[in-house]
Amino acid sequence: MPTLTWTDELALAHPQMDATHEEFVSLLSAAELALAQSREAALAAYQQLVEHTVGHFAQEDRWMAATGFAPENCHTFQHAQVLGLMHEVTRVARDDGDFGPLERVLPELAGWFRAHAQTMDAALAAHLKQIGYDVASGAIARPPAAQGMTGCGGASCSPATPADETTPA
Ligand SMILES: [Fe+2]
Ligand SMILES: [Fe+2]
Repeated sequence: MPTLTWTDELALAHPQMDATHEEFVSLLSAAELALAQSREAALAAYQQLVEHTVGHFAQEDRWMAATGFAPENCHTFQHAQVLGLMHEVTRVARDDGDFGPLERVLPELAGWFRAHAQTMDAALAAHLKQIGYDVASGAIARPPAAQGMTGCGGASCSPATPADETTPA
């Protein structure tokens, strides 16, 4: 039984993001199943998950960079932290033969993803919808008022993005 399965509560009404997230959940489950088979299978499945995550995070980072977020915004920073950890887990399993971190990271990633999708990714999806960002063409129907946002726009993130400030200047 996988730790995380795709449910409507993970969906963010953003087709591209949702499709990528559904793939993430599926690859995470595959890695958990592979762990029950062999170390080779587990490492191969985990590396597929990591490879997919590189593209997943890069896609969101690109969308943020294109729609007013500063390069050092907290959502992009969290992606980099998580990906760094995921790469380290690969290295320890592949080079040192220690699969303990790999076994532990899968359920941790499931919990992390659920929270991340429902906070930072949900805020990004809402932001993209609000400004009318077309992911295919890069066109923005309603350009954002604020540029260089460092917050993620979610309730979990402090400080809030400039766009969230309601007090008139
Ligand atoms: Fe995401
Ligand atoms: Fe994200």
